[in-house]
Amino acid sequence: MKGKEKLCAKLSSTFLRKWWFVVAASVLFVLLGIIVAVFFMTWVKLVINHEILLRNGSQAFGWWAKPPVVPVIRIYIYNVTNADEFLNNGTKPILDEIGPYTYVETWERRNLKFNDNGTVSFNMEKIYVFDESQSVGSDEDVVVVPNVPMLSATSQSKHAARFLRLAMASIMDILKLKPFVEVSVGQLLWGYEDPLLKLAKDVVPKEQKLPYEEFGLMYNKNGTSPDRVTVFTGANDITKYGLIDKYNGKSHLPHWLSDKCNTLLGSDGSIFPPSITKNTTLKIYDKDLCRLLPLVYEKSVMVNEVEAYRFTPPVDVFAPPEQNPDNQCFCPHGPPCAPNGLFNVSLCQFDSPVMLSFPHFYLADDSLRTAVEGISPPDKEKHQLYVDVNPIIGTSMSARARIQINLAVSQVVDIKQVATFPDIVFPIMWFEESIDGLPPEVTNLMQLAANVPPVARACITGILVIIGCVMLFLAVWRLVRGANRLSSLHLSTGHHGTVPQTTKDMPMGNVPRR
Ligand SMILES: *[C@@H]1O[C@H](CO)[C@@H](O)[C@H](O)[C@H]1NC(C)=O
Ligand SMILES: *[C@@H]1O[C@H](CO)[C@@H](O)[C@H](O)[C@H]1NC(C)=O
Ligand SMILES: *[C@@H]1O[C@H](CO)[C@@H](O)[C@H](O)[C@H]1NC(C)=O
Ligand SMILES: *[C@@H]1O[C@H](CO)[C@@H](O)[C@H](O)[C@H]1NC(C)=O
Ligand SMILES: *[C@@H]1O[C@H](CO)[C@@H](O)[C@H](O)[C@H]1NC(C)=O
Ligand SMILES: *[C@@H]1O[C@H](CO)[C@@H](O)[C@H](O)[C@H]1NC(C)=O
Ligand SMILES: *[C@@H]1O[C@H](CO)[C@@H](O)[C@H](O)[C@H]1NC(C)=O
Repeated sequence: MKGKEKLCAKLSSTFLRKWWFVVAASVLFVLLGIIVAVFFMTWVKLVINHEILLRNGSQAFGWWAKPPVVPVIRIYIYNVTNADEFLNNGTKPILDEIGPYTYVETWERRNLKFNDNGTVSFNMEKIYVFDESQSVGSDEDVVVVPNVPMLSATSQSKHAARFLRLAMASIMDILKLKPFVEVSVGQLLWGYEDPLLKLAKDVVPKEQKLPYEEFGLMYNKNGTSPDRVTVFTGANDITKYGLIDKYNGKSHLPHWLSDKCNTLLGSDGSIFPPSITKNTTLKIYDKDLCRLLPLVYEKSVMVNEVEAYRFTPPVDVFAPPEQNPDNQCFCPHGPPCAPNGLFNVSLCQFDSPVMLSFPHFYLADDSLRTAVEGISPPDKEKHQLYVDVNPIIGTSMSARARIQINLAVSQVVDIKQVATFPDIVFPIMWFEESIDGLPPEVTNLMQLAANVPPVARACITGILVIIGCVMLFLAVWRLVRGANRLSSLHLSTGHHGTVPQTTKDMPMGNVPRR
């Protein structure tokens, strides 16, 4: 006992005390290393989430306001090659898919205004310039397509009084309307004067008026949109970063049956709330889509040498309610609801029977595609809609927005011009709006954000732990050596000379020292 006390006294002597201090410090280093290992990514996330906020003057804001990308829209038109036989002889329509007709786009968010509540409002400007070198021909090529305003009017009149239909027939006679029109590609897209719309504009009471007298599938889309969009900057709540707060002052659509289907709380497709996982469901709002489009993780891809997650609509996104109960609220006047793979947007298109699908009826019933001739079977590579997002900062890096526009024509026998036009979902065109990667100044930063933090974390943790361990080893070694020296000092002045063999059998190591 005496020896032990002495030993303790010696160990806590000034010579050894500094080694105890070193032990404490080294343990502290190791602990620090562990803390860094555990929390480093959280700190990085905090820094990144702060950097990407939409703040006046920040780089992220600049890129968002004037995206440094060159979006391109490629248009494919289904040219009807047997219009007369189709009407007179009841044959299937034979369609000839022609395209691409390519327009290069420039995007900019205009009239930016920050609001006090962590939102920013803007009008989207998109300028389209025809690029003949990337197209199959000039945008003056003439195509034959269904007369959308006329067939919309006749299809809508299906449930009207008979005399109205007859009146409509005589008006159409006077206006010399035909169920198919011959127009140039440019006219079909950007607008041509339509006699029916012109008439409607003059006679229909002001409240019910259609806003245009021209018809075009992309009419009025070239330029600054009148739609005022307010999105969250992420300043108050990073989980809403980039999501729509208000669209023309409204946070919900009026058309559908539930708040869940009417909500506009989705991204416009450019930026998403950061820290995206494979379980995240992204949501995109587009005015012409008339709803939020959900996107789920499909696979990881590399875009400009940066890892991105590919998000794509689930296969049952446009399935009828029997297959996907979530879609019940998108069928306000059903059943019957739209067939599998079609989305009825007539409520957003002035009641025109417009149905959206994916190109070539991808993910839709094959009977829709085979109801016409000339559409090849869908191909995921060519016809799938997807967005590749950077999971760390939530920015889209590349995208293919692919949508087909169809007209759901109803046969109306009382109107002689269209009496032989059967019930059919008539494909008109499809488009692909694409973004192919981001410029190097953006992707370099993304690479930094993806690659540096794990390395930095490993280095810092490693260095701290190694320093800690080396110090600990040194200290313990010194202490043990000190202790041994003390014991051997004792032993040499005590009774025995040989320590190891004898102490081994003793129950207590300090017995021989007595
Ligand atoms: C579209 O079809 C019509 C009628 O068959 C034809 O005259 C026209 O040349 C076609 N247009 C193109 C661009 O091929
Ligand atoms: C109409 O169909 C009949 C047979 O059903 C065929 O003999 C005739 O050639 C067709 N006419 C046209 C213009 O295609
Ligand atoms: C950003 O700040 C500049 C200078 O302070 C100002 O002129 C500009 O209007 C601001 N922009 C927005 C969108 O608030
Ligand atoms: C934020 O402020 C804008 C402009 O005052 C307003 O339109 C919007 O409704 C507000 N949003 C929220 C979530 O309070
Ligand atoms: C869109 O507008 C720009 C000018 O604002 C014009 O140069 C361009 O030709 C227009 N594009 C189309 C397809 O009309
Ligand atoms: C992601 O989904 C898997 C499988 O459904 C589940 O086990 C996991 O808990 C989910 N992770 C998160 C973060 O929700
Ligand atoms: C599309 O929706 C409109 C409005 O709800 C409805 O009147 C029409 O019958 C629907 N069309 C089809 C083919 O379901």
